[in-house]
Amino acid sequence: MTVPIPQTYTPAPDRYDGRMAYRYSGRSGLKLPVISLGLWHNFGEVDRVDTGRAMLRRAFDLGITHFDLANNYGPPPGSAESTFKVILDKDLRPYRDELVISTKAGYDMWPGPYGEWGSRKYLISSLDQSLKRMGLDYVDIFYHHRPDPETPLEETMMALDQIVRQGKALYAGISNYNAQQTRQAAAILRELGTPCLINQVSYSMFNRWVEPDLLEACHQEGIGTIFFSPLAQGLLTDRYLGGIPEDSRAGKTGTFLKREQVTESKLNSVRRLNEIALARGQTLAQLALAWVLRHPASTSALIGASTVRQIEDCAAAAKNLAFTEGELREIEDVLA
Ligand SMILES: NC(=O)c1ccc[n+]([C@@H]2O[C@H](COP(=O)([O-])OP(=O)(O)OC[C@H]3O[C@@H](n4cnc5c(N)ncnc54)[C@H](OP(=O)(O)O)[C@@H]3O)[C@@H](O)[C@H]2O)c1
Repeated sequence: MTVPIPQTYTPAPDRYDGRMAYRYSGRSGLKLPVISLGLWHNFGEVDRVDTGRAMLRRAFDLGITHFDLANNYGPPPGSAESTFKVILDKDLRPYRDELVISTKAGYDMWPGPYGEWGSRKYLISSLDQSLKRMGLDYVDIFYHHRPDPETPLEETMMALDQIVRQGKALYAGISNYNAQQTRQAAAILRELGTPCLINQVSYSMFNRWVEPDLLEACHQEGIGTIFFSPLAQGLLTDRYLGGIPEDSRAGKTGTFLKREQVTESKLNSVRRLNEIALARGQTLAQLALAWVLRHPASTSALIGASTVRQIEDCAAAAKNLAFTEGELREIEDVLA
């Protein structure tokens, strides 16, 4: 039986009393919580609004001020933004100035040649649609969601610049841009007078593509980094230690974490990492989040969640972000 949540919401008065840590995004004046919450999964039309509502309330109570969306989150595409509007209207709209809300455009959103990638036509129309769906005048960060091999980068960046100048977004971001693309985008945006705030990229103990050059590029350019799927979509938690639960991401169909990816060799590493976490007095999720946040260029770890308990667990990672050399070596041994 599900317990109905109270209809009125009063945020926890102690939400900024040191339980969460905040970091500047690159060389900007905007601070993000070290743990941010994304609405990619579990906020679609197919999901229970009350669960989403309880998760956003708890997140905000724990000092998580940043919620990340995209035009295509759902399913169906667009529905996570519509659900978010419902929750804003019921609970969070009075606290709009305490929130950093982001959305993106880049993936397939509507039929025809103007519904994806990076043209000015697509980005500006898409953000207008997103603002309507969320009932907002502006978002805090608007991202180009993925590099477009066809559209001139100047056009895409000029669209971001225009969006910021029009006040529809306060900051411009890029996502999934590699080191070279990041440097090029940063240079164009700088020239236009709208600095690039942040690059949103995947990063976890199981996915280290950003390490050779992208982290350094962001650091040098003064761009923040926010890491998505820091828990490898749930693999780097205790979720799969006892098998694949039916209600988990790998247990469901149509997700990006397939059953076949939950391999015995991954689980072996997970068990060993779990031991290291326990020795630090942390859960594995907390260890995995602290680990991506160890680099000086890192701003925030962007988690997803399906329950309030998961959010509580992840938010508590902020309590211990420091590593000894020995712990880092032990982790490297497991990942080698
Ligand atoms: N820019 C991009 O291209 C891009 C791409 C992907 C994602 N993102 C953003 O990044 C956000 C996060 O991505 P993600 O959901 O893949 O991140 P993730 O944090 O790696 O995985 C989230 C999943 O891990 C499990 N989980 C979370 N906390 C847990 C805990 N404490 N204990 C046990 N299990 C836990 C849950 O799985 P169950 O659902 O199985 O319970 C949850 O749905 C998205 O919402 C989106 O905003 C951006």
